[in-house]
Amino acid sequence: MAEAPWPITFDDVLAARERLRPHLQPTALRHYAALDQRVGGSIRVFVKHENHNPTGAFKARNGLAAVSALTPEERGRGVVAASAGNHGLGLAHAGRIFGVRVVVCVPTTANPEKVEAIRGLGADVVEHGQDYGDAVERAAKLAGEQGLTLVHSTECRAVLAGAGTITLEMLEQQPGLEAIVVSLGGGSQAVGAMTVVRGLGRSIPVYAVQAQGASVIHDSFRARRPLTAAAASVSTIADGLATRETYPLTFGALLDGLADFLVVSEAEIAEAVRILIATTHNLVEPSGAVPRDCCFIGRAPLDQGDTNRKRRPLSSRARIDISLGMIYRWTVELPDFEDDPELANDQILSSIYQEWFEEVNSV
Ligand SMILES: Cc1ncc(COP(=O)(O)O)c(C=O)c1O
Repeated sequence: MAEAPWPITFDDVLAARERLRPHLQPTALRHYAALDQRVGGSIRVFVKHENHNPTGAFKARNGLAAVSALTPEERGRGVVAASAGNHGLGLAHAGRIFGVRVVVCVPTTANPEKVEAIRGLGADVVEHGQDYGDAVERAAKLAGEQGLTLVHSTECRAVLAGAGTITLEMLEQQPGLEAIVVSLGGGSQAVGAMTVVRGLGRSIPVYAVQAQGASVIHDSFRARRPLTAAAASVSTIADGLATRETYPLTFGALLDGLADFLVVSEAEIAEAVRILIATTHNLVEPSGAVPRDCCFIGRAPLDQGDTNRKRRPLSSRARIDISLGMIYRWTVELPDFEDDPELANDQILSSIYQEWFEEVNSV
């Protein structure tokens, strides 16, 4: 494959951060001893709480970065996007702040809670198709018909720059981070992370993780070329990662810069959600739990070296970051609890896990 130019500059990320600053607080980067214990190997894990953003995911950054970069004329006409939920929420949130009309195309399979939340933020919702790819086609059509600016969740430089602000914050909060692990849907978060690492002159490896049921970008990374035709459909509980193609803006950068790329099974994702509930007391959506999963099950970046040229073993004081998303208003039937608060806590966790497990098994 011909080498593509790097999609964004470090200055793009710095500029996005300035545009976001009045509208978004930095999120916490927390360390949980209990999570370290589960991960093992004396690894210190830091969790970047992107689930504490106003829309529950880092996509709040992407939406704000995109809308704040529009010209006054573009703002007047409005924007359209396709989304499984989080990108649409981020854009709707930004549209509300900047007074810009937002149309979000969602697949009919989208999480209804997220769709409702997008509407609640004042965006128009168009339900179309079976998956994210179908919704993208509809969004592109609407852009042409209505003169709206298409804000793709990956194929948009301002979006990538917005995602880069996560890593900028993380490295200010913990300059000694030795590895960054991100879940990957289209690659905004991964490319943003690599841009910042490079821009700061650091050599911190960035690892990406995808769900087995939607692994076309991982598979293409391994094949060193886009394998779009291989993914006629996708199936995963990590709805934010359910993409079925590679994207020209990010794929070359992923090939060039990722330390490694892993896939995790649905059961592993569910297990990661449970562990994050238990150790961080955060309800984490599957898309956000994916990276932690690869730490916990002891797969790379902790061990299992393969032929990838950029992989390097981590020292015992290595620190790894993951970013989280959040489950929306997920309702769980709770049983009657013991008086003992410790026991009650355990019961709550296990009943949440039970519900979750049933959901996973029904996929
Ligand atoms: C919570 C969460 N994590 C990760 C991703 C994947 O991000 P990217 O498209 O930047 O790879 C998404 C995408 O929607 C998401 O919602």
